[in-house]
Amino acid sequence: MSLKITVIGTGYLGATHAAAMAELGFEVLGLDVVPEKIAMLERGETPMYEPGLEELLRKHVVGLEGSTGRLRFTTDWAEIGAFGDVHFVCVNTPQKHGEYACDMSYVDSAIASLAPHLHRPALVVGKSTVPVGSAERLAVHLAENAPAGGDAELAWNPEFLREGFAVEDTLHPDRIVAGVRGERAEKLLREVYATPIGEGTPFVVTDFPTAELVKTAANSFLATKISFINAMAEVCEAGGGDVAKLAEAIGYDDRIGAKFLRAGIGFGGGCLPKDIRAFMARAGELGADQALTFLREIDSINMRRRGQMVEMAREALGGGSFLGRRIAVLGATFKPDSDDVRDSPALNVAGQIHLQGGQVTVYDPKGMDNARKVFPTLGYAGSALEAVRGADAVLHLTEWREFRELDPAALGEAAPARLILDGRNALDPQLWRRAGWTYRAMGRPTA
Ligand code: UDX
Repeated sequence: MSLKITVIGTGYLGATHAAAMAELGFEVLGLDVVPEKIAMLERGETPMYEPGLEELLRKHVVGLEGSTGRLRFTTDWAEIGAFGDVHFVCVNTPQKHGEYACDMSYVDSAIASLAPHLHRPALVVGKSTVPVGSAERLAVHLAENAPAGGDAELAWNPEFLREGFAVEDTLHPDRIVAGVRGERAEKLLREVYATPIGEGTPFVVTDFPTAELVKTAANSFLATKISFINAMAEVCEAGGGDVAKLAEAIGYDDRIGAKFLRAGIGFGGGCLPKDIRAFMARAGELGADQALTFLREIDSINMRRRGQMVEMAREALGGGSFLGRRIAVLGATFKPDSDDVRDSPALNVAGQIHLQGGQVTVYDPKGMDNARKVFPTLGYAGSALEAVRGADAVLHLTEWREFRELDPAALGEAAPARLILDGRNALDPQLWRRAGWTYRAMGRPTA
């Protein structure tokens, strides 16, 4: 394949995108400003747990036994500029400290570092999630600072991958969105995606602002679905309904759809919470804040689920203080199949109970190291069985398959109190009740 690809930033998005591009047959050069990350990737390792990614890296990273050698890494911007026909910008855009707004400093500095090295025609493709209007501003910067001038074009091509499914989502996306200004950019992007990725995949060509907005709108919609069902859970809790049945029943309507209707302790992670906040902040700057005031409610429904889980545990334990009570917490990551604990509802609930005097022991299949870093004062166990030993209550807070496959009878031997609270509505109530457990879940009747 003739096009040469670079990928700037090697987090979840960049590392996966680089490996996927190599898998499709392109020569790929990845860049990160952190040399330790590059050293890991060169060994075919990733700083995070993402199913299938290390296998893909080992298949392509140059110098590894049996690899195609199509994927290399560097920290040198000049090498990136000289190598690439298409440069994908995959750096992260976190929430600004103490504000709702998005921190654009990594994107801005990536473009500023790359521009002076663009001596020949190139397409710079933003994949990061950015506030509407960013691409316009960055295109001006590129044209003014790249030696190639107008031949260094920009496009915006948002990425919709989910953690835990990053490889699958990158290789089999639902749609490709191409925010472009001219025909050349569209042609080049079509060429990149004219690989198996693009076959049969809808290719939506838009202007810059629409491409930027598609991503924030999609994440806002997903967050809204989750908070909607969690609001229904609150009403069920008050009125005696069963939110899981309610979700099943409304989900059969194709217009609503069954996905993202699992009630529980809500959404977390590095995307949905910060994206809806950045969206509100940007709308405010544009004088359109009224259009998104509902997102404030989505955020607040989501955040209060965590406190409600804590209260549910307190009540199930007979009320009063957590002092001296032993609480086992199954799950620390914000979702299963990830080691990411950023804004994790599970860890937040564990932390709240700990701060209220509870003796909390956490177990998570992949998130222990990250959880320890964020919350070193919590207790940690090497297995679910060890965590629940002697527990007055077991809280199921991240729906790992390992937890669904637990044997309630064996666990009951270790935790004779046999009280389990399902913060994710993911365990089988009958299975646990038959083994003598008191099973309670958010938004569902107590028996
Ligand atoms: C999300 C978007 O799905 C993805 O398209 C975008 O590119 C990045 O943000 P991700 O953050 O990996 O992906 O997680 P996702 O699978 O969307 O889950 C987000 C959170 O919502 C998790 O904490 C999950 O537990 C929670 N969730 C999800 C629910 O509480 N209920 C549900 O029904 C679904």
